[in-house]
Amino acid sequence: MPALDFAATHRNRDVLLGVLKPRLPGSGMVLEIGSGSGQHHVYFGAALPHLNWQPTDIEPDHLRSITAWQDLQPSAGLLPAKKLDLLKPWPVQQADAVLCFNVIHISPRACTPALFEGAGQVLPKGGRLFTYGPYTFGGLHTAQSNVRFQELLESMDPDFGVRDADELAELALENGLSLVEKVAMPANNFTLVFEKTDA
Ligand SMILES: C[S@@+](CC[C@H](N)C(=O)[O-])C[C@H]1O[C@@H](n2cnc3c(N)ncnc32)[C@H](O)[C@@H]1O
Repeated sequence: MPALDFAATHRNRDVLLGVLKPRLPGSGMVLEIGSGSGQHHVYFGAALPHLNWQPTDIEPDHLRSITAWQDLQPSAGLLPAKKLDLLKPWPVQQADAVLCFNVIHISPRACTPALFEGAGQVLPKGGRLFTYGPYTFGGLHTAQSNVRFQELLESMDPDFGVRDADELAELALENGLSLVEKVAMPANNFTLVFEKTDA
């Protein structure tokens, strides 16, 4: 199975790394949900080799691509890919940070509460969950292009869609996390940073 090439990762990997670098812990394991091709995984892993990087995905082709990228661009902290379906029990019981980039708008709606429930279980107090993608705020899109993207997502699957940051903040609170930062990113995307507030 070849290493897949997800074009967007070339455009957003540096800005995402810029958000992650000062906000990730100094040591420990970073669990990535929906790693896709694995390109973010190897890029972040090479830039921050003092951390252990656990890639996951639901798709067998993506799991094989992650392994292929690891073979092409090995670095010290890269862990073997694991199958993780947000809607099933997670194969990982503990993580020091959780990443979920470009997943929740393009997966069934039930995946969103499942993400917060899982993150609430695996993170320690002070541990962070980072989500990246398009969001509405108070039900409003931040750009006309996101309105069209919403229509495209709904045409792919009525259960897909741009999620609302305020709803995510509520889900976070229900699972012991708090929305602490909304970082504006290029192309009308945001990185949302959530922090676990209780042990
Ligand atoms: C648009 S891709 C994003 C991949 C990567 N994070 C990136 O930013 O390039 C969405 C990913 O979510 C994964 N995914 C979809 N449904 C999922 C689920 N229920 N549990 C875990 N991952 C899922 C897909 O297999 C795919 O790899």
